[in-house]
Amino acid sequence: MKRKAIYPGSFDPPTNGHLDLIERGSKIFDELIVAILRNPEKDPLFSVNERRQMLESMTGGFDNVSVDTFHGLTVDYALRVEAQAILRGIRAISDYEYELQMALMNRKLQPGLETVFMMPAAKYSYLSSRLVREVAQLGGPVDCLVPDLVVQKLREKMDVANKFGAAGAHELEARSADRAAAERKTKSRKRKS
Ligand code: PNS
Repeated sequence: MKRKAIYPGSFDPPTNGHLDLIERGSKIFDELIVAILRNPEKDPLFSVNERRQMLESMTGGFDNVSVDTFHGLTVDYALRVEAQAILRGIRAISDYEYELQMALMNRKLQPGLETVFMMPAAKYSYLSSRLVREVAQLGGPVDCLVPDLVVQKLREKMDVANKFGAAGAHELEARSADRAAAERKTKSRKRKS
């Protein structure tokens, strides 16, 4: 049987720490799905589409890694895609309490599903999406914290937000969603032909 895992999260934005964990996960699972939570209650910096695009580009080099989105319970999504495990990263002791709580709740909801914790490289132990957002929004450098593509996207967001406010950011997001849909159509046409 193939060992399949999901790596759920917000990824707003994806960081080098996420990428490090994806690489480690891809080595121990036959298939790994990076699953972005669609959470209507949160007000994210990047839309789900933008995060999906960034993660697809970051993980393009891994044959056994794919990117998907989900809403609702993580355990329900895991069952739907027939995964046996949930992959989560633990950076420091401070992560442990929350992660343990979540893992035990997920076990209560779905006893057959295992949570596997992995540690990212120590150099990423302080890194979080929230801090990346904060540093970028205040004009600090994030070059070594996120992949180049994400640096670029953060710059675009900040430029648009500075020039045009929130309305401009939404316009940019709509255009990027259109581009992504067009790319997916082209890819699907190529696959069929
Ligand atoms: O990257 P994050 O924000 O730490 O990821 C948290 C996430 C998405 C894994 C968690 O909030 C989650 O699983 N949400 C889905 C709803 C759910 O299943 N809740 C019960 C978890 S115990």
